[in-house]
Amino acid sequence: METTTPRKVEHQQTDRGYVPVYATGVVEQPWADYSKTDHEVWDTLFKRQRELLPGRACREFMAGVERFGLGDGGIPKFSELNQVLGAATGWEVVAVEGLLPDEVFFDHLANRRFPVSWWIRKPDQLDYLSEPDLFHDLFGHVPLLLNPVFADYMQAYGRGGMKAFAIGPDALMNLTRLYWYTVEFGLMNTPEGMRIYGAGIVSSKGESIYSLDSPAPNRLGFDIERVMSTRYRIDTYQQTYFVIEDFEQLFDATRPDFTPIYARLAQAPAHAAGDVLESDRVFTRGSREGWAASADT
Ligand code: PHE
Ligand code: FE
Repeated sequence: METTTPRKVEHQQTDRGYVPVYATGVVEQPWADYSKTDHEVWDTLFKRQRELLPGRACREFMAGVERFGLGDGGIPKFSELNQVLGAATGWEVVAVEGLLPDEVFFDHLANRRFPVSWWIRKPDQLDYLSEPDLFHDLFGHVPLLLNPVFADYMQAYGRGGMKAFAIGPDALMNLTRLYWYTVEFGLMNTPEGMRIYGAGIVSSKGESIYSLDSPAPNRLGFDIERVMSTRYRIDTYQQTYFVIEDFEQLFDATRPDFTPIYARLAQAPAHAAGDVLESDRVFTRGSREGWAASADT
């Protein structure tokens, strides 16, 4: 596996102290600095999701959690996870302060590095926080990186991101919607029933229940252009979930060159987050109960 040593740029004062910041946004995971409370927050969140997710999350996700030996023994060390991850799929977890510029994020993915916020939420933020923390990034995203097909999809997404970035903001928005409705909020129609694979869902107790059990949201068959032209909510649970059959379907659908798709989508208006179209394969038509009247992203 190829690893690059990030170039150290400078030290920077952040909310969380004085830390070295690299051009890649990568820092050392300051494992020794986690407080007892930090470890307890991890344990609490982990136990809660570990109890809730069997029968809800897809088997590939659950297998990943088991294989890492993620547990309630405090916050994992990235260096230990990387032993398992590197051997399995050549991916690597790197610690970052938080959200990265798009092109930096894409470059990490394209090189099979997954950026994880090293800091964890506070005990009064167990159910909601507005930016991704360690629990979301690590528990939500990393278990599926042990799955070979999903691992390749994420790398392809990173490469596709560099390309969309070069094309322009509209292409980038189309691609971001794909990430949102698959990597973050995807559902899978498995032989055992509807299952979750999206990181934004598996890392949230409330949405792990709502996404599968609530009559409110639409659950629609995945279609690449449909997804890329659908706006989304960042402030509430989703109004629509898109359902794949398996990771092969997802990977195959994203294999073609998106350039003509971006050109086509630029000519047509986007769909609202809650729309159901004639052409949709409808698993569940949402009751729209409790939906905010305000516009979506
Ligand atoms: N095939 C896409 C393109 O040509 C790249 C891509 C692959 C995007 C996988 C997302 C996921 O741009
Ligand atoms: Fe995420």
